[in-house]
Amino acid sequence: MFSKKFSIFIIGLYYIPQLIPSRKVSNTNGHDCVAKDFGQDSTVCVCNASYCDTIPLIEKLNSSMYVKITTNKDGLRFHKEIGIVEVIENKASYSDIVINVNASVEYQAIHGYGGAFTDATGINLASLDGKVAEQIMKSYFGIEGIGFSLCRVPIAATDFSTRPYTYLENEDPELTSFSLQEEDYQYKIPYILQALNLTNNNLKLISSPWIAPLWMKTIASYAGSGTIKEEYHPTATWAKYLLKFLEEYEKQGIDYWGITTGNEPSLALYPDAIQSTPTVAWTSADMQKFIKDHLGPTIENSSYSTINLIALDDQRGYLPDLNEILNDSAVNNYIDGIGIHWYQDWYESANLLDEVHNRYPNKFLLGTEACSGSTVIDLIFNTRVLLGSWQRAEDQAKDIIEDMNHWVTGWISWNMVLNTDGGPSYTSNFVDAHIIANITANEFYKQPAFYTHGHFSKLVPPNSKRIQMILQANNNESDVVSTAFKKPDGGIVITVLNSSDKTLDINIIDEDLRIIETVTPNSLSTILYWKD
Ligand SMILES: *[C@@H]1O[C@H](CO)[C@@H](O)[C@H](O)[C@H]1NC(C)=O
Ligand SMILES: *[C@@H]1O[C@H](CO)[C@@H](O)[C@H](O)[C@H]1NC(C)=O
Ligand SMILES: *[C@@H]1O[C@H](CO)[C@@H](O)[C@H](O)[C@H]1NC(C)=O
Ligand SMILES: *[C@@H]1O[C@H](CO)[C@@H](O)[C@H](O)[C@H]1NC(C)=O
Ligand SMILES: *[C@@H]1O[C@H](CO)[C@@H](O)[C@H](O)[C@H]1NC(C)=O
Ligand SMILES: *[C@@H]1O[C@H](CO)[C@@H](O)[C@H](O)[C@H]1NC(C)=O
Ligand SMILES: *[C@@H]1O[C@H](CO)[C@@H](O)[C@H](O)[C@H]1NC(C)=O
Ligand SMILES: *[C@@H]1O[C@H](CO)[C@@H](O)[C@H](O)[C@H]1NC(C)=O
Ligand SMILES: *[C@@H]1O[C@H](CO)[C@@H](O)[C@H](O)[C@H]1NC(C)=O
Repeated sequence: MFSKKFSIFIIGLYYIPQLIPSRKVSNTNGHDCVAKDFGQDSTVCVCNASYCDTIPLIEKLNSSMYVKITTNKDGLRFHKEIGIVEVIENKASYSDIVINVNASVEYQAIHGYGGAFTDATGINLASLDGKVAEQIMKSYFGIEGIGFSLCRVPIAATDFSTRPYTYLENEDPELTSFSLQEEDYQYKIPYILQALNLTNNNLKLISSPWIAPLWMKTIASYAGSGTIKEEYHPTATWAKYLLKFLEEYEKQGIDYWGITTGNEPSLALYPDAIQSTPTVAWTSADMQKFIKDHLGPTIENSSYSTINLIALDDQRGYLPDLNEILNDSAVNNYIDGIGIHWYQDWYESANLLDEVHNRYPNKFLLGTEACSGSTVIDLIFNTRVLLGSWQRAEDQAKDIIEDMNHWVTGWISWNMVLNTDGGPSYTSNFVDAHIIANITANEFYKQPAFYTHGHFSKLVPPNSKRIQMILQANNNESDVVSTAFKKPDGGIVITVLNSSDKTLDINIIDEDLRIIETVTPNSLSTILYWKD
């Protein structure tokens, strides 16, 4: 069982021999996953009012130890093992994969990872017993949860609401009758406040608009190609409406770290007849004007002038258009970051991220939305929710790693909690989520993707920096991708995704430290060590 690794380990022996057999001792500390197989390629963890698995405590170790966390197709969930670091002289590589780490080369700082407080999320939480809902909140935000730190909040309705609504249904250009709705009071505010409490206020929030009042729009439809009427441009009515949202939430004790220019304006490119998701359409030229003449000045001239204004909030493929908008210096001055969605990442190159970063290095990139189960294929085959899908967890982990290696500073998934249909959604746009609530059984299922996202949200806290890592595959192994970070406490974090079905040895070399590990088939492994 130890064979090869054991003997390699002996060569560079630095540690007292008696401890060697404990190299692979499992030490989860946390509550174990109660696994359930729904016939997919992996399993979910079942939680109810009285039981839920927890994330193990990960404490700083001295420089002769490391910890490895594994989540895999085989059923391990945040499985914790402690290992012993070898100190080497000879850096010759002999394993399948060699990862050379140079922590003195730093790249982008991490803003955080999280999900979205949609109406659907709150409705599902409110439909479960209080105790069960609390287990979900703790799973995301509690000390034994996955450490979500950056979440998104829709401004009024999205397709994951039970009705389309805005804060100002009747024509009122002065915005005097602006009022938050029942959904805010019942399904968003209480859970956001609970999350702030659970995280000791270490939770950043960004807001995004989907839907505009019909009287402000050029067509009488929430979805489709309609935009804000010309007559409301001089008064910056739409920008002031968004500002009102920030004011009303502040009155509820909720402050925003960021606001986006609007969710997926590209939806409006599709024919009105097939559109159901509410949106405000913007061409590049109109968006440029809106930021420069309305949103930018309105926010700058308010008490929210330090909020991060995040452009795009749409698919990666539109980054070249944004490059042009940002070349306008007035727009450039107002914009702090760029939001990207993952839905077209399978065919849009990550080089687009590098291009925008290289041209505008002081604008941060942030993944503002992602979920599985939303493709046309999923619609046709009704595979919106797949309970226990490892493939989906792997797809998401791969995307996070790719984004991180191309300057992205965080990754926010879509609905935090959906029901077993993947809703509710008034447009029947059902999709998958990290947590699926079975309301009748008063229990919920944590998908594999909950844990793989957790490898980042829990193990790579805000203000971590990505560092240099060069992966060398000696055996042609192309199914392994990796990224590395340095945490604020000095810990080095190496995350390795193995999408192949073989077991490989990896050799992590960081100056004169060497870690030899095995990555199991179809796994996400995170290795942490502290050099001082
Ligand atoms: C909750 O889950 C635990 C662990 O699976 C189980 O022992 C217990 O019976 C469940 N409670 C209810 C009310 O289903
Ligand atoms: C590191 O920690 C381990 C476990 O706590 C301990 O046994 C060992 O002596 C420590 N090594 C050093 C060099 O401090
Ligand atoms: C790490 O990077 C720094 C800065 O580029 C360089 O000076 C140093 O030689 C590198 N260390 C190793 C071990 O390659
Ligand atoms: C969280 O709520 C508890 C109980 O109401 C309160 O004592 C505590 O101060 C709150 N913590 C924060 C950070 O708001
Ligand atoms: C800035 O705000 C003040 C007071 O709210 C207002 O009087 C002024 O017109 C605003 N200026 C601009 C450029 O919007
Ligand atoms: C960006 O703007 C500058 C100054 O107006 C202009 O010279 C340059 O051609 C623009 N670059 C692109 C790629 O549009
Ligand atoms: C939800 O729970 C109910 C009641 O226990 C059960 O009949 C149903 O199969 C469950 N649904 C799923 C998707 O597990
Ligand atoms: C590398 O991959 C190619 C193509 O899949 C294969 O023909 C070759 O034998 C592989 N080489 C090794 C060393 O595995
Ligand atoms: C990846 O998984 C495959 C099989 O699942 C395994 O053979 C291979 O060794 C793993 N690679 C790594 C780097 O662990």
